[in-house]
Amino acid sequence: MSSARGIAVRSCGIAVPEKVLTNDDLAATLDTNDAWITERTGIKERRIGGTTSSLAAEAASEALRRAGLSAEDIDVLVLATTTPDGIAPATASAVQDLLGMRRVGAFDLNAGCSGFMYGLVVSAGLVATGYERVLLVGVDTLSRITDWTDRTIAVLVGDGAGAVVIEARDGQSNLLSHNLHSDGSLRHLLYCEHGGYLWMDGQEIFRKAVRVVVESAEQALSDAGLEADDIALLVPHQANRRIIQAACQRLKIPEDRTAVVIDRYGNTSSASIPLALADALEAGKISDGDLLLLCGFGAGMSWASAVLRWGS
Ligand code: ACO
Repeated sequence: MSSARGIAVRSCGIAVPEKVLTNDDLAATLDTNDAWITERTGIKERRIGGTTSSLAAEAASEALRRAGLSAEDIDVLVLATTTPDGIAPATASAVQDLLGMRRVGAFDLNAGCSGFMYGLVVSAGLVATGYERVLLVGVDTLSRITDWTDRTIAVLVGDGAGAVVIEARDGQSNLLSHNLHSDGSLRHLLYCEHGGYLWMDGQEIFRKAVRVVVESAEQALSDAGLEADDIALLVPHQANRRIIQAACQRLKIPEDRTAVVIDRYGNTSSASIPLALADALEAGKISDGDLLLLCGFGAGMSWASAVLRWGS
């Protein structure tokens, strides 16, 4: 797969609700405790609240501001989410209106927690077909589909949004390689019916996630002609710190070259990769020209990886 017109990611913005829910807060109403949650998941606290459209619009505004652009400069809005405000219209329509965007294309994309990764590849495809700038938002409010009396799920989820401005670039793309995968026969491992709550087989997802993340990350590295040592930062989906650690070990990427925000935000699904990316940028862990390895997995079961050169 190759295209004549490349992409560059120009900026990143995030939004999280103000309300912080700590492990101790959860332990007050659930049969759980801070030690178990910290040891088994790496999560210390998460943010809860807001709507998918409001968080998305806030993150998108910040990404636009950081790029020195306005909503009028965007040609398509791609919104990756598993928790749209409603069934119809697409949440992207509300976000487009909140941002005051021109009457350009706007749509939702659902690939579970891999949504941001799918959105990245779709955005690159849109650029390849002629669009100049795409605003990609990964956003989820899993708290709205969580049974807060179910300790197996309640301790994991958080709400948030992350957005990036993607634009056309002449010459070689900064998206050096990518792969998208899904195995629909595994959809029973993580699902939510209309009006219901999230259900998952945590142990089975854990086992499968480590394997598929490592496979697709290795494929992305090899397709880009790179070794793990060439990667400045691994930016993985944040579902469980132990999944991240196991993947790092197998990929031979040390944890200090890995973006981790799960301790503060929990599993924010489509938002977790841009939240981790923004945090690393803020901490000065990414310089222009650095190679990033992004990996996602989630409901579907879907998974995906990409190698991205940071900067324009
Ligand atoms: N607090 C205290 N104890 C708990 C809790 C809790 N919140 N949850 C389960 N336990 C207990 C279990 O009942 C079990 O007790 P037992 O030994 O007496 O039977 C024990 O802790 C161990 O349970 P396991 O399920 O084996 O714990 P595990 O180490 O597998 O961790 C977890 C569970 C955190 C869910 C892990 O399997 C995981 O993270 N899986 C992957 C999840 C994931 O990646 N999901 C993808 C997306 S999720 C999403 O989108 C919401």
